[in-house]
Amino acid sequence: MISDRKRDHVNLTLTQPVEYLNTTGFDRVMFRHSALPELDFKDIDTSLTFLNKRLSFPLFISSMTGGYKDATPVNAMIAEFCETHQLAFGVGSQRAMLENPEHLASFSIARKKAPKTVICSNIGGVQLIGGLDKKSMNLLIDSIEADAILVHLNPLQELIQKEGDRNFQGVLEGIKKLVSEAPVPVLVKETGAGISGEVALRLVEVGVHGIDVAGVGGTSWAKVEDFRYENEKEKGPDFLMEWGMSTLQCLQEVAPLKERYSFILMASGGIRNAEHMLKSICLGADMSAMAAPILKTLHQSGLQGLDEEFSRWKDHFRKGMLLLGASRLDQLAEKKVYLV
Ligand SMILES: Cc1cc2nc3c(=O)[nH]c(=O)nc-3n(C[C@H](O)[C@H](O)[C@H](O)COP(=O)(O)O)c2cc1C
Repeated sequence: MISDRKRDHVNLTLTQPVEYLNTTGFDRVMFRHSALPELDFKDIDTSLTFLNKRLSFPLFISSMTGGYKDATPVNAMIAEFCETHQLAFGVGSQRAMLENPEHLASFSIARKKAPKTVICSNIGGVQLIGGLDKKSMNLLIDSIEADAILVHLNPLQELIQKEGDRNFQGVLEGIKKLVSEAPVPVLVKETGAGISGEVALRLVEVGVHGIDVAGVGGTSWAKVEDFRYENEKEKGPDFLMEWGMSTLQCLQEVAPLKERYSFILMASGGIRNAEHMLKSICLGADMSAMAAPILKTLHQSGLQGLDEEFSRWKDHFRKGMLLLGASRLDQLAEKKVYLV
């Protein structure tokens, strides 16, 4: 059952070593320090407009959960956190809700707790093969009054998952149809194995409004699925557990497309602190995004712990901005990093 699987995913993320050994590549990225910033710290502004709403900080809480009973309080807490701090977030895959309306409440709680901020729907690319019917599309959006739909691409996860899909033909066509029919923007994300420049090009050419590269360096979905096998012989090989493109490589390939196409670029996969968020923006992303650490912090120290962590990230990020001589986010794209 999908709902049992979703519960397993959350539990495994909280209890098992499911992170990639390969890194984001961000250790190769150095900041171009400004010894003459000529700025006052109080003027450092991290706000931005994202999907037509004003947000306080370029951190998106990535799609994670919903679709089983215990997911309701988790989505409620993420929503409350995001509403308080004016951050954007996505609910987890809504497939379970389309198959069983009983699960709708675990998603709709998000909008109840976050009436104003940006919330994105979530559905798998594989579910779009052959086209998503209009009733389902509207349900995805209306259940949370979504500001956008995030489509996740996860062929690696599906191939490792015992019950996973094996046919990936027709996903791009399904995305194209969704883009033409949806009343809200359609964004596409990976789940940790990364989106290359070539894939990003095919996506923007069918009109997607945004791409979250979700590269290697954080949660490995191959590992999460692999932990679900009890029989050693069924487990996947090491090279697939580490499969994918680093978040740095993805950004380097995808960001240059912004010179020719207008789309939102998001960076996730192994974003763990203010340094990573700042590097993401300097590498051309409009928004950084994070999944597993949010879940872990909520589990260990609740909403208050997450609030405190976020305040630290924001303070560190603003200090970094000052040391780069940038008082606004758009100034971070101006050659503020170099690679070693
Ligand atoms: C417990 C958990 C559940 C997730 N469920 C979904 C999902 O339903 N839909 C989706 O698009 N991504 C899902 N993801 C993937 C994340 O959105 C993200 O792309 C990935 O974990 C990489 O980010 P991280 O390294 O910060 O964890 C999930 C991640 C976690 C940790």
